[in-house]
Amino acid sequence: MGRRQDLERRQMLLARFGRRIASETRIDSLLTIIAEEVRHILNADRCSVFLIEVEKSELWTKVALGVGEKVLRIPMGQGIAGFVAKTGSAVNIRDAYRDTRFTQDFDRITGYQTKTVLAVPLKDRDGKALGVFEVLNKAKGAFNEEDEGFLRILATIASSSIENAKLYEYLRKSHLETIYRMAMVAEYRDQQDTASHLHRISKYTGLVAAELGLPLDLVEDLRYASPLHDIGKVAIPDSILLKPGKLTPDEYEEMKKHPVYGGRMLENAESRLLKLARNIALSHHEHWDGTGYPYSLKGEEIPLEARIVSVVDVYDALTTRRVYKGAWSVEDTFRYMNEQSGRLFDPKVIDAFVRCRSMVEDLMKDEGHMGGANGYNA
Ligand code: C2E
Ligand code: SIN
Ligand code: SIN
Ligand code: FE
Repeated sequence: MGRRQDLERRQMLLARFGRRIASETRIDSLLTIIAEEVRHILNADRCSVFLIEVEKSELWTKVALGVGEKVLRIPMGQGIAGFVAKTGSAVNIRDAYRDTRFTQDFDRITGYQTKTVLAVPLKDRDGKALGVFEVLNKAKGAFNEEDEGFLRILATIASSSIENAKLYEYLRKSHLETIYRMAMVAEYRDQQDTASHLHRISKYTGLVAAELGLPLDLVEDLRYASPLHDIGKVAIPDSILLKPGKLTPDEYEEMKKHPVYGGRMLENAESRLLKLARNIALSHHEHWDGTGYPYSLKGEEIPLEARIVSVVDVYDALTTRRVYKGAWSVEDTFRYMNEQSGRLFDPKVIDAFVRCRSMVEDLMKDEGHMGGANGYNA
């Protein structure tokens, strides 16, 4: 390829690079896209993006192995990546195995043979080291100065995307953590094992939502919204919530207000996640046939997210001991759930739940949580 054409090709690829990474806010997929693009643009066989973990004074990267991928770590200052991160200068090597900075550990793990290496530092807006870009084994010959200049430009573009993604991820994580803690507050009084109960509800909801074919980001939001379903119970007095026996009709009427309380607590939320949580809190005791509460909604009038949580909530309530009841066996519970398909529950959701049965049982085993051998039916 002529020099001019080569330049034009690179300019085009550069523009595409910018477009592709601009729309990605998740650090994992961002790093994958960056590595793919850079490898392609520089005609290299591999590209690794190393990120610095300041607290541990380490660099980490993900490498693809025959089966799946693995996170590899290298101490600051060690290997080529560690050298670049520490010194902030670029490194261009023609024969890695003859360079004393090179560590063969990675090649040993991946079964790869590194020959040429070009590595440049990734820096944030303030010039602080973020990580290292490495391209390995150029298709023909060694990496040259032009490659280096190009990799530096790519590193600059990538750095700002990586910084943004990190910030975005941090916000998302704090948001999710706060939500999860809100759910803990709500369940703290009446669940002996609050954390594992919330964990199960979250996991079951994720399984069913994925089985129903919902988009992955929605599945994830549902996993985090579902533990808030009973948040309205914080407004129910101890004398009712913790009563070790059957509720009187009056007490039950009071208890049945918890969805309305929960709905109010989450009203007018901004984020999609909290909107889902609000629908779930308000409608998780509605029944498919219109006999539920608080509004006797019927069929698809009930938001899908609430129809899903209604199923997993009852499943978990039945297979768990409560102050007012023993735990049912898995067998009895699935029989009951099937009987209630089309009555209490959306048949499509029950079908999906039944298809998840082995995964549900595995999850219960993981949590050391087994249904009772012969609980009693209400
Ligand atoms: P929960 O304990 O989380 O139960 C959620 C739902 O699981 C119940 O909604 C019900 O649909 C189902 N469920 C739970 N236990 C049984 C059972 O033994 N048999 C059958 N067939 N279904 C069961 P529900 O009935 O609207 O109750 C909402 C909440 O009211 C319950 O949440 C619980 O906190 C409270 N509650 C209901 N009944 C009693 C009771 O007899 N005594 C006490 N102390 N609390 C109760
Ligand atoms: C290193 O020494 O930086 C590791 C080289 C590699 O990525 O294979
Ligand atoms: C949790 O259960 O710890 C949070 C929700 C999840 O990650 O599934
Ligand atoms: Fe409830």
